[in-house]
Amino acid sequence: MKDFAGKIAVITGGGTGMGRALARQLVAEGCNVAMCDVSAEAMAETKRLCEASPLPQGLRITTHVADVSDETAVLGFRDAVAQQQNTDRINLLFNNAGIGGGGSFIADTREQWERTFNICWGGVYFCTRAFLPLLQKAAEGHIVNTSSVNGFWASLGPGIPHTAYSAAKFAVKGFTEALVNDLRLNAPHIKCSVVMPGHIGTAIAANSRKVLTGSTSNTLSRAEIERARKRFAAGGADLAKLSDQEIQKLWDERIRRFEHEAPTTAAEAAKIILDGVKAERWRILVGKDAEQIDQMVRAAPEEAYERDFFERMAKAAGWRVG
Ligand SMILES: NC(=O)c1ccc[n+]([C@@H]2O[C@H](COP(=O)([O-])OP(=O)(O)OC[C@H]3O[C@@H](n4cnc5c(N)ncnc54)[C@H](O)[C@@H]3O)[C@@H](O)[C@H]2O)c1
Repeated sequence: MKDFAGKIAVITGGGTGMGRALARQLVAEGCNVAMCDVSAEAMAETKRLCEASPLPQGLRITTHVADVSDETAVLGFRDAVAQQQNTDRINLLFNNAGIGGGGSFIADTREQWERTFNICWGGVYFCTRAFLPLLQKAAEGHIVNTSSVNGFWASLGPGIPHTAYSAAKFAVKGFTEALVNDLRLNAPHIKCSVVMPGHIGTAIAANSRKVLTGSTSNTLSRAEIERARKRFAAGGADLAKLSDQEIQKLWDERIRRFEHEAPTTAAEAAKIILDGVKAERWRILVGKDAEQIDQMVRAAPEEAYERDFFERMAKAAGWRVG
């Protein structure tokens, strides 16, 4: 797909981060956008930002509250898109919504593990199934599935278990790679891409916590403070003497740094993704860190989960650890 003007794009998780940046850049190119998210408020802000510059006459930006891990909600989202965009076809599907969490298969609850897996993988699966008939009816289509560097390297470093997210992101990558051939054989006017971002500056950590706990507050509960204390301690820090308030401050600072000191911004990431779609690349690494990790894991797969490998990798990727 060489340009997006006049096309219709569906974006999951359009409320913040890369989803919001994709929506803004697509609208700027004259593309109609239908987005879903669990937060109506966040989507209203995305819509406001999209409408900040004058839009081509008739361009539609629609917002839909839907949880991508719930198939009934996804089917309702699809029907609302068809109705409100007044269409029976779409051109672009960005399966972008995702959360972190459920890191340990052993120590975390089954509920948390499955919530993360069902959003990160189930969301991609349900939305692709639901929107495929609308993509099939379009003259050209493109499915863009967001995996992660955790789709080929199942770790955040040696002190942190990361199972639900990694399992889901490997599934997204495997599914999308297998779709390349399936689409060529059965729906050749539809292309697909797997997106593998490195560290992108977004509020994913804070948003994931909200989705997992159902809380809208940024203040950690007692149980969360204890988990954060353990997690920071696993990274080597001595936190025994810190008060709960100091742990909260450390948490807030991590969230701030993750968003504001990342090597790649959400806007830069969205540009790389959209350029990749235009160039019809099925494999889109986002960020120099993602390229670096890809090369290192390929060069020495057996070492990928050793501490020494992580230290070399974090240095090469420019990650600030701790
Ligand atoms: N930020 C990074 O460093 C990074 C790295 C690799 C991959 N990713 C992936 O990129 C994608 C976008 O993440 P982001 O960093 O922009 O995070 P983000 O938190 O800013 O955006 C994700 C959006 O998805 C929404 N969402 C969460 N659960 C949902 C659900 N069940 N149904 C519908 N919407 C839901 C959130 O409310 C949020 O608006 C995710 O799939 C994430 O796993 C992010």
